[in-house]
Amino acid sequence: MNILILGSGGREHALAWKLAQSKKISKVFIGPGNAGTSFTGTNISLNPENFMEVKRAVLDHDIGMVVVGPEAPLVAGIHDYFLEDDYLRNIPLIGPDRCGARLEGSKEFAKGFLKRNNIPTAAYRSFDLSNVEEVRPFLKELDPPYVIKADGLAAGKGVVILNDIEEAEKEVLDMLHGKFGKAGSKVVVEQFLKGIELSVFIITDGHSYKLLPEAKDYKKAGEGDTGLNTGGMGAVSPVPFADESFMLKVKETIIDPTINGLINEGIVYKGFIFFGLINVNGDPFVIEYNARLGDPESEVVIPRIKSDLFDLLEGVAEGNLQERCLEVYDDYVTTIMLVSGGYPGTYKKGKVISGLDKVNNSVVFHAGTMISGDEVLTSGGRVIAVSSRGKTMKEALAESYHNAGLISFGNIYYRTDIGFDL
Ligand code: AMP
Ligand code: GLY
Repeated sequence: MNILILGSGGREHALAWKLAQSKKISKVFIGPGNAGTSFTGTNISLNPENFMEVKRAVLDHDIGMVVVGPEAPLVAGIHDYFLEDDYLRNIPLIGPDRCGARLEGSKEFAKGFLKRNNIPTAAYRSFDLSNVEEVRPFLKELDPPYVIKADGLAAGKGVVILNDIEEAEKEVLDMLHGKFGKAGSKVVVEQFLKGIELSVFIITDGHSYKLLPEAKDYKKAGEGDTGLNTGGMGAVSPVPFADESFMLKVKETIIDPTINGLINEGIVYKGFIFFGLINVNGDPFVIEYNARLGDPESEVVIPRIKSDLFDLLEGVAEGNLQERCLEVYDDYVTTIMLVSGGYPGTYKKGKVISGLDKVNNSVVFHAGTMISGDEVLTSGGRVIAVSSRGKTMKEALAESYHNAGLISFGNIYYRTDIGFDL
C-alpha cells in the first residue's frame, strides 16, 4: 500500500522513517515534507489544510492510508471531509474527526470533558464577553501565578502565565477583545499547578488503545529551562519518574476515563492522543490534550517502537487494534533540536547546512529544511533533530551531542543541557 503523511516537521520525518521500514508499505509520500523526508520518501507539494489538494494527491498517487501529523487539518475537519466524500470514505485517515479534535482545538471543551469525566486537572472557569465582570472575583479565588488560555488554536502562543492580578485581568480582556482573533473569543482561566511535566501518548481505534512510550520535552529556549517558550528544544524517553506505579495512576485516573468519556459522549476517535501531564507530588494531572503526536517527542517516541507501526495504524483503520502487538525497546532515546539563532523570535532562513554526511550512530530528523540544487538549506526555526539510542540516558545524550557538533549552519543554536533535571 502507498501511504501519505501530512505535515512538514521532525514528527513527520520520524513517521516517514518508521513507516518506510514496514514490509506492508510500497511507497511513502509526505505532503509537503522537507529536505529530509525527500530522502526517506517522496514529497508532494500540497497544503494539508487544503483538503482538495490532499484529495488530488490521494488520487494521483493511489494512496491507501493518510496519517495526519499536525493539529490544524484535524481541527478544521479533514477526517469529516474524507467521510463525506464518496471516494475518500474508503481511504482510512489516522487522526480524529472535528468532534474528537476539539480535545485540542477548544480548551473550554477539553476542560469541560475533563471535569465531566472526573479526570484530574487544574480548577478553572471559562469566560466570554457575557461574563467578563466575573473574571476579577475568580482570579481572587486563585493563588498566583494565573494561567490564562485562549480557547482556540493560537499557534502555540495562546497560554500566558502571569503573577500580577491586574495584568492577568488585562490579559483575559485583551484576549476576549481579539488579541488572538477568534481563538480568544472564549478564555479559560485556571489554577497554576507546580510540578514536572511529561508527555504521554496513546493510539486508539475508538474502543481500545495502546500506550506508546512516554517522553519529556524541553520547551524553553534557554539552558536550565529559562527564556521563551518554543515548540520544543529536545526530548528524552523513557522518563525516569514515570515508573510503574506512576503510570498505573496515569492509566487508571486519566487514560481509561478519557477513552470511556469519548465512547460515552459518542465521539469515535481514531488516532493519537497526546496527554500533556504534570506530576504534582506523585499524582498526574492533565495540563492539556493534543489530537496528534508531539514534536520533538515523536523523534524519541517513534525510534523506541520496535513493532511495525503500520500494523498499529491498520488496527486503528480496521477497528481491531486490540489484536495488534506493540513492542517497545527498553533503550533510552534522546533528541537535540538544532535551531536557527533567534528562534522563537526572528531568525534568518536559507543557511547552508553542512556535516549531515558525517553523522554516525544518530538519526537525523529534519524539521525546517529545504533542498536547493544539491544543498540542504534551513527554512525554519527548528531545523534538525538529532536522535540517538543508548543503554542509559547519558549514553544516548553523549551520542546526540557528539553528532550535533558535527552539523553546522549559520547562526546554529541548541541547548546543551537536555535531560539536566532527570
Ligand atoms: P498548553 O498550551 O496548554 O500546553 O500550555 C503551555 C504550557 O503552559 C504548558 O506546557 C505548561 O508548561 C504551562 N501550563 C499550562 N497550564 C498550566 C497550569 N495549569 N499550571 C502550570 N503550568 C501550566
Ligand atoms: N512538543 C509539544 C508539542 O508537540 O505540542
